[in-house]
Amino acid sequence: MRRRMTSAPGESPVRLYHVSKSYMAGQFALQDVSLEIRRGEFVFLTGASGAGKTTLLELIFAAEQPSEGQIVVLGRNVARLGARAIPALRRRVGVVFQDFKLLEDRTVEENVRLALDVIGTPRREARNRVFSMLKSVGLQHRRFHHPRSLSGGEQQRVALARALVNEPEILLADEPTGNLDPELTLEIMDLIAAAATRGTTVVVATHDHSLIERYGKRWLRLEGGRIAEDLPATAGVERGAAR
Ligand SMILES: Nc1ncnc2c1ncn2[C@@H]1O[C@H](COP(=O)(O)OP(=O)(O)O)[C@@H](O)[C@H]1O
Ligand SMILES: [Mg+2]
Repeated sequence: MRRRMTSAPGESPVRLYHVSKSYMAGQFALQDVSLEIRRGEFVFLTGASGAGKTTLLELIFAAEQPSEGQIVVLGRNVARLGARAIPALRRRVGVVFQDFKLLEDRTVEENVRLALDVIGTPRREARNRVFSMLKSVGLQHRRFHHPRSLSGGEQQRVALARALVNEPEILLADEPTGNLDPELTLEIMDLIAAAATRGTTVVVATHDHSLIERYGKRWLRLEGGRIAEDLPATAGVERGAAR
């Protein structure tokens, strides 16, 4: 039998060991990144455009494979996952991509419900969960609309509702408040922080440094594909003012 890393209780759900990713020979999107994220931890990921934020999220989601190093997500070695194991892993991981990736031919409600349908949630329960999830992102009145008739900020909230509706073990969000006004940004971030409080491990890529100061969570700063700084969570102490 092939040896397999198992998900022991208390084991960190996201672990990277000397991970590098190169899309083109000689150029590294990520370089020698080692990192562990504990269960229920909330991590902000920052860095200039091109620093490797999206690549890091894609690697954790097994959308890309590392060129070097090991990634273990929920106890599974991502590089060794078979064709069937990848969707099984992704069901446990909620993602909000930068371009939302909503299905245009489905309504808002159907887009959010999909995550529950694939795990066989009974119809009535699915309907209730989708409704309360849409309510918490303030979009219950839009549930029968199609994504294209929504604003960018509304689509972003649908994407978050879809990512959170099945209480994923990990949430990966790429600039999830990039299209939102400040008030809505805080509502959405509070929703994400609440998921972390319930045990979801959260990684949020953002350009918004005020969020990092406000929430005082762990802060990973990428620079040219390397971890330039990894600051632990604080009790809301203001940081980064000098940057
Ligand atoms: N699919 C790809 N093919 C080639 N190069 C890519 C691809 N995705 C990202 N890159 C390159 O990798 C680097 C990191 O990009 P990315 O992870 O998107 O950074 P960020 O999200 O921080 O802006 C950039 O130099 C980018 O051009
Ligand atoms: Mg990006």
